[in-house]
Amino acid sequence: MTIKAIVFDAYGTLYDTQSVAAVTEEAFPGYGEIVTQIWRIKQLEYTWLRSLMRRYEDFSVITRDSLAYTLKCLGLKHDPAAFERIIDKYLHLDLYPDAMAALAAMKNRKLAILSNGSPGMLNALVANSSLDRVLDATISIDSQRIFKPSPDAYSLIESRLRVPPGEVLFVSSNPWDACGAKAFGLNVAWIERVTPEAMALACVNSGVVAPLTMFKAIRTQMDELGLEPDYRIHALPELADLVAAHES
Ligand code: LAC
Repeated sequence: MTIKAIVFDAYGTLYDTQSVAAVTEEAFPGYGEIVTQIWRIKQLEYTWLRSLMRRYEDFSVITRDSLAYTLKCLGLKHDPAAFERIIDKYLHLDLYPDAMAALAAMKNRKLAILSNGSPGMLNALVANSSLDRVLDATISIDSQRIFKPSPDAYSLIESRLRVPPGEVLFVSSNPWDACGAKAFGLNVAWIERVTPEAMALACVNSGVVAPLTMFKAIRTQMDELGLEPDYRIHALPELADLVAAHES
C-alpha cells in the first residue's frame, strides 16, 4: 500500500507544549512546572468536555480558559499583561529539534498538519517556526466545530487532501489521538517519547512525584482503549524509513 500523505498532530508531536515552562516560571517563580502541567491537562479536557456538550469554542478560547482555570485554582494573582505574555508563547512554541529535518526528508509525499488548534493559532505557529516551507497544508478541525478524537475531525484529511484513509500515515505522540486516528481507519504511527522504563525510574527516583511525572503518566503512555497504533517509534526521524518499509 502506498502512503501518499503523512499527516501530523501539532501540539506535543511537532511542537513541544512543555516549552511554555520558561514563561510560566518567569511569571510565577516556583510555580512554572505546576502551571504548565495543569494548563495542558485542562486544555485537552476542555476540548473533550465541549465536544460532548456540543458547546464548541475554538482552541484559542479553550487555551485561555484553561490557563485562567490554572491560575485561579493555584491562587496566583496576575495582571492582564502577564496573562498575555504566557498566552503569546502558544504562537511561538518550540519545534522539536528534529522536526524540520525529518519533514524535509519526506518532501516527496504530501505533508500536512491536522490539529485541534484554531486556524489563527496554527497559521501563526507554522509561520513563526518556518514549517510552512515544508508543509503542503495546515488543517484545523475548526470547520467541523468538534475536536479530535471525533471521526468528524479526522475526516477532514480526505476532504482537504483528497487522499483516502488507507493511503495516509497519521503521526501523533498523543496516545488518545493515535487511538482516535486508528479508530477512524488511518494508518497510525505513535511516537513514544517517554518509555515505561523511564516512567518507572522517574517514580522510583523522586521522593515526591513531580507534576511533570504526573503529566507524563497520564498523557504520554498508551491508553487502554483496545486500539493499537500500526507503528511505535521514538522520534520523528524514524518516519522516513518506516514509510519506505511500509511500501516494500
Ligand atoms: C493538536 C493537539 C491537541 O491537535 O495535540 O495539535
